[in-house]
Amino acid sequence: MHSEATNRRKFSETDHPWGATVQTIPWKSRYSMGIEALDEQRAAYISILNELHAGTIDGFEHPAISMLLAKLKGVMEAHFSVEEESMSSAGFVGLAHHRAMHMAMVRQVDQFVTRNDSFDVTVPLPLLNFLRGWFAIHMLGDDLLFAQWLKESDAVQR
Ligand SMILES: [Fe+2]
Repeated sequence: MHSEATNRRKFSETDHPWGATVQTIPWKSRYSMGIEALDEQRAAYISILNELHAGTIDGFEHPAISMLLAKLKGVMEAHFSVEEESMSSAGFVGLAHHRAMHMAMVRQVDQFVTRNDSFDVTVPLPLLNFLRGWFAIHMLGDDLLFAQWLKESDAVQR
């Protein structure tokens, strides 16, 4: 029988999010941008990552990866729209640069869609690696920098 401590060890705060033994990424408060709609979309993104990770182990049928890509595009488009709107209404000076990063991300995902539509069976693993990189660099980096800026500018205005 596993103790509670053993069960918790499956994913502790000290683990690298993408450690080899980690099967799924749970939502963590440190991923929060402090805006509910954005956090829900970020949680949905993580859920897609987990689904993709499971699929790369269990094997993907072509329709499943097509559906996952469609879901990813829906989540990302909604997320970018809400995030850019938040930046715009807050007067964030980094908006143009941030929007360019979003557009580059959409282009990359579209390339995966094109490959998948051509029945390229090698899509899942590089897609997973790309989405992991986006999560680690953009979502935990650039996005949280904006969230921090927003908190600080709100504090100054009070
Ligand atoms: Fe962003």
